[in-house]
Amino acid sequence: MASPATGEVVIIGSGLIGQSWAMLFASGGFKVKLYDIEPQQVTNALEKIRKEMKFLEQSGSLKGSLSAEEQGSLISGCLTMQAAAEGAMHIQECVPENLELKKKIFAQLDQIIDDKVVLSSSTSCLLPSNLFAGLVHAKQCIVAHPVNPPYYVPLVELVPHPETAPATVDRTYALMRKIGQSPVRVMKEIDGFALNRLQYAVISEAWRLVEEGIVSPSDLDLVMSDGLGMRYAFIGPLETMHLNAEGMLSYCDKYSEGMRRVLKTFGPIPDFSGATVEKVNQAMCVKVPDDPGHLAARRQWRDECLLRLAKLKRQMQSQ
Ligand code: NAI
Repeated sequence: MASPATGEVVIIGSGLIGQSWAMLFASGGFKVKLYDIEPQQVTNALEKIRKEMKFLEQSGSLKGSLSAEEQGSLISGCLTMQAAAEGAMHIQECVPENLELKKKIFAQLDQIIDDKVVLSSSTSCLLPSNLFAGLVHAKQCIVAHPVNPPYYVPLVELVPHPETAPATVDRTYALMRKIGQSPVRVMKEIDGFALNRLQYAVISEAWRLVEEGIVSPSDLDLVMSDGLGMRYAFIGPLETMHLNAEGMLSYCDKYSEGMRRVLKTFGPIPDFSGATVEKVNQAMCVKVPDDPGHLAARRQWRDECLLRLAKLKRQMQSQ
């Protein structure tokens, strides 16, 4: 067996995201300790992780160079946060999205950690300065926001707060690269970080187009899945501009007037309620009925698509 990578990683909260992080760190050869307020949750998580790793190995999609068994043996459970944090080089918090709960966890960790470990939160939308203000080890704190499902979608947004040391960002960046994720540096904290700001811009115009009866809900989704999304899986909106003309300068020269004209017609922020929510919900339920069975099956199909897309992206990069 290849020797484990240096240092131990601790996962606080072994739900959906905690389990994914554990698998990713083990794929990079790191020893991982899982802690949860519910000990049974850790037992269940370890079982699920080992099953999932076997499945991924059989389907040729297991990340890293170690076997499923070797990766599985790198992950263990821990009964107390104190025991988990001892000797750790990176702690990834994955408890539910609740500011008071997360602040409590970081305050507890602040009392038991040394000045070398990085304290990282998986929060989707809490501002780092709200999470870390006043901590003795504030310089070592950062948000590392993954995208669901993190095993197949590699982006991680690294969001510092004003007191985060540059070395904390650099170390977390290097660690994310080491486990095969794709980190981006958000230079300054901002509500929604970068990913959700882009996502909400898209959702809001999608909603307005449906609300105003310009396109049906199912056609709206096709505009993305069979249109914009095809290239966005490979190149972003800025590179799209660059390639859609003779470079960026040419694109702005040709299209900026049209873009500005269209952008001026964008409406106010939708309130996501009333008749439009009924209409969108009805259309979505025709496609995927909203009972747990149908939703789970569709999510499984989505993850299978993402897994194959991830493989394709790897092949395309190595050409
Ligand atoms: P989850 O509800 O699946 O898991 C949370 C886990 O934390 C549970 O196992 C729970 O028992 C445990 N927990 C609760 N209180 C605790 C405590 N005091 N100490 C230790 N463990 C405790 O939640 P999920 O979906 O894994 O989300 C975790 C974090 O990741 C949240 O901040 C969320 O915003 C973020 N996130 C979630 C994404 C998603 O799509 N689910 C995507 C990206 C980030």
